Amino acid sequence: MKPFVDLKSQYLTIKEEILEALEGVLESSQYILGKNVKAFEEEVKNYLDVKEAVAVASGTDALHLALKALGIGKGDEVVTTPFTFFATIEAILYVGATPVFVDIDGETYNINPDLIEEKITSNTKAVLAVHIFGAPADMIKIKTVADKYGIYLVEDAAQAFGAMIGGRKVGSIGDVGCFSFYPSKNLGCFGDGGMVVTNNSEIAEKIRILRNHGSRGGYIHETVGFNSRLDEIQASILRVKLKYIDKYNELRRKKAALYNQYLSGKVITPKEKEGSYHVYHLYSIRSPLRDKIRDLLKVQGIPSVVYYPLPMHLQKAISFLGYKEGDFPVAEQVSKEILSLPIYPEIPEEEVFYISQCILKCLENF
Ligand SMILES: Cc1ncc(COP(=O)(O)O)c(C=O)c1O
Repeated sequence: MKPFVDLKSQYLTIKEEILEALEGVLESSQYILGKNVKAFEEEVKNYLDVKEAVAVASGTDALHLALKALGIGKGDEVVTTPFTFFATIEAILYVGATPVFVDIDGETYNINPDLIEEKITSNTKAVLAVHIFGAPADMIKIKTVADKYGIYLVEDAAQAFGAMIGGRKVGSIGDVGCFSFYPSKNLGCFGDGGMVVTNNSEIAEKIRILRNHGSRGGYIHETVGFNSRLDEIQASILRVKLKYIDKYNELRRKKAALYNQYLSGKVITPKEKEGSYHVYHLYSIRSPLRDKIRDLLKVQGIPSVVYYPLPMHLQKAISFLGYKEGDFPVAEQVSKEILSLPIYPEIPEEEVFYISQCILKCLENF
């Protein structure tokens, strides 16, 4: 079976630049908080048009440290989506706060902005919006609600580097934006990595201290922090890849448009809402015949993945929150029907055609 995301095909297109970047780090022998991390932070600031960028060890840490820096903790509630990767929820729990779920929009699979207000209480400190699959959440409506109640807006943009809504890049719209550079992410390194961005210098400074054992350096510790630094090797790789991110996102969009052309009307294809720029970190279709499609693709040697088979509110790990089946019908339905097909910038167009034909053939039998 082919890999779901062929990371090697991208590596080969930039191999020389990557090897040169790696050699530069090895020659400098400076591996932690050196010039590549600093330069990468500057480059991301410019790219996203934000005042501050702090590189950390993973997307999970970006979320965790962001919530901690905002002073969110025990007794606080964070309103979020049940249709995400578990790390979004873990971060809320790490700081001692309680996740409060809101059902999703059936078209973008992101938090339904019209349902947020009814979940806000005197304990609500933040809305944590996720841009799932690379599709921007409705930040305009969500920000209006957050501003009305004077609560923080945090963006989990782990799957959406370069995505835009209303002409602004996601991650730069809320109080804090969090990114993951996990290898298969649309901007991915060769290990773990993450970043927090914000226009608030005070928050950025807190995160800078938190990522480095609560210290500004010199073995003086202001607070109990963490070891959560992006390393120089990963930063040097990300600096090479950042130069190509617009091209990569455009290629993803081109391949997504091809899938749409072949599959629309036969399955539910992803929606790009007006005024938004979807980066298709994942290309996910929906069909009541999801499992049959998946089985047939497997027989043909085509990988596909169910992101995500069980919404967060039904996960055993957080059963103590007391949610039950039926609480968020849209998220539950989507989890039963969703299927992500192979997509990456370098996927050959013939492969998109072939995968689509296999799906159409499968559907002919029902
Ligand atoms: C939506 C979302 N949030 C958070 C994360 C966590 O990122 P990381 O794996 O870099 O810790 C991921 C990715 O894994 C993700 O997809």
